[in-house]
Amino acid sequence: MDTKRFISFEGLDYSGKTTQIKRLKEYLEGEGFKVYTIREPGGTKISEKIRRILLDKAHVNMTGRCEIFLYSAARVQLVEEQIIPLLKKGYFILADRYVDSTTAYQGYGRGVDLEMVRLINEAATYGIMPGTTFYLKFLPEQVNKRTKLSGRELDRLEAAGLDFYQRVFQGYEKIAENNKNRFVVIDANQGIEQIHQKIVEVVKKRTLEEL
Ligand SMILES: Nc1ncnc2c1ncn2[C@@H]1O[C@H](COP(=O)(O)OP(=O)(O)OP(=O)(O)O)[C@@H](O)[C@H]1O
Ligand SMILES: [Mg+2]
Repeated sequence: MDTKRFISFEGLDYSGKTTQIKRLKEYLEGEGFKVYTIREPGGTKISEKIRRILLDKAHVNMTGRCEIFLYSAARVQLVEEQIIPLLKKGYFILADRYVDSTTAYQGYGRGVDLEMVRLINEAATYGIMPGTTFYLKFLPEQVNKRTKLSGRELDRLEAAGLDFYQRVFQGYEKIAENNKNRFVVIDANQGIEQIHQKIVEVVKKRTLEEL
């Protein structure tokens, strides 16, 4: 399967993933490409129901392992129902989080055994990985700042606190280190337009010129 058109976005909460996906989608559509965006967990009827269970604030005692299986159940449905058929049709797929989030949040953040995380991720994706992953690098302290700014109600994961985000951040750093070919690290502490231009530059080089 050709995954050049499969692009994922990773980074801590509020690092700007959704903002940048929207901009890149507009750019690619302007260039005449078909683009489909997916958010994780979710993106299919079944996956959206699983999303509701995962983000329910009443589920404070959900274990890390339960979390990982639910995220992965939502993902496998998404891969079969959307990602594989759309890639075959030549769509660009812009993923708002993918397996690296599971490794960072459930693996590094919640301490689920990393080898188990790797096996579950492999099973949930059929080994289908993005051609490029944009990692919007953002310090945990900055998450708090943007959280306050937005005034949005905290969901269960966001209520987990700074220690948790420190572990997730370190996790992302290690994942980036271990996946140098796939990962493109971008300082999320720049203006929206500046980040967008960098992303377009990379997509041109890594994908458009290769099509
Ligand atoms: N480069 C930027 N500089 C300043 N503010 C930004 C930047 N990018 C996004 N924002 C703002 O920060 C907030 C979070 O952005 P966004 O929703 O894109 O992040 P996210 O990574 O998708 O977050 P989440 O993980 O919670 O979905 C929004 O209010 C957005 O307008
Ligand atoms: Mg978002």
